[in-house]
Amino acid sequence: MTNELEILTKEILVCEECHLKLGRTQVVPGIYGPQKSICFVGEAPGYYEDQQGLPFVGKSGELLDNMLKDTGLAREKDVSILNVIKCRPTTDNGQNRTPTDSELRFCGETWLHKQLSLLSPRLIVTLGGIALKFFIPNGKVTQLAGQLVKFDESNYVFVTYHPAYILRKKTLEMMEEYNSHFEQILSLYQKETFDQEYEQVIGKDGQSSMKTNQKSLKDFL
Ligand code: URA
Repeated sequence: MTNELEILTKEILVCEECHLKLGRTQVVPGIYGPQKSICFVGEAPGYYEDQQGLPFVGKSGELLDNMLKDTGLAREKDVSILNVIKCRPTTDNGQNRTPTDSELRFCGETWLHKQLSLLSPRLIVTLGGIALKFFIPNGKVTQLAGQLVKFDESNYVFVTYHPAYILRKKTLEMMEEYNSHFEQILSLYQKETFDQEYEQVIGKDGQSSMKTNQKSLKDFL
């Protein structure tokens, strides 16, 4: 970990900027892989993550680790695993809940942006709709899954499902699609440059303005 990342992480660990501090056991800053690698971005810590202070350590994390392993990658050694939100959002009776848009924006802009600027990932992968919403507010996973989407001047996200969604669906088709996404992620990572010919530009409003033809990544890898 670079010095700057270490300093930033220490700040995240003692964050008292919002009400989410009230329901947390621990802050979950994330796990860092090398710079210029792949950053997987999830939503927020759940019960187990909050207990352990680590991202994706429950059932979803198990699936994510297996998907990475099948792709020949491992958390920390090769890739970073972060969440947009660093503290577990809870209901009044202590259950997990979906973060609000303002929690997402506030925590993401306060911490995730800084983490990403220090990690300079070659590729950001959003896991599920909430993480996607942070980068592309009106983007829908159902429409964009399996696609590489440029969301500002020079940054792309590869859109895929949250592992919890795959675990809920539990169909062979979903598993196959998820596998193909991870293969695409690896191929993209290994590519010298992303193919401009198929670059898709999605505005902050979620409207797609295609530079050329709308193809999914599958079509050209
Ligand atoms: N779900 C997420 O989005 N992140 C975690 O860290 C765990 C579950």
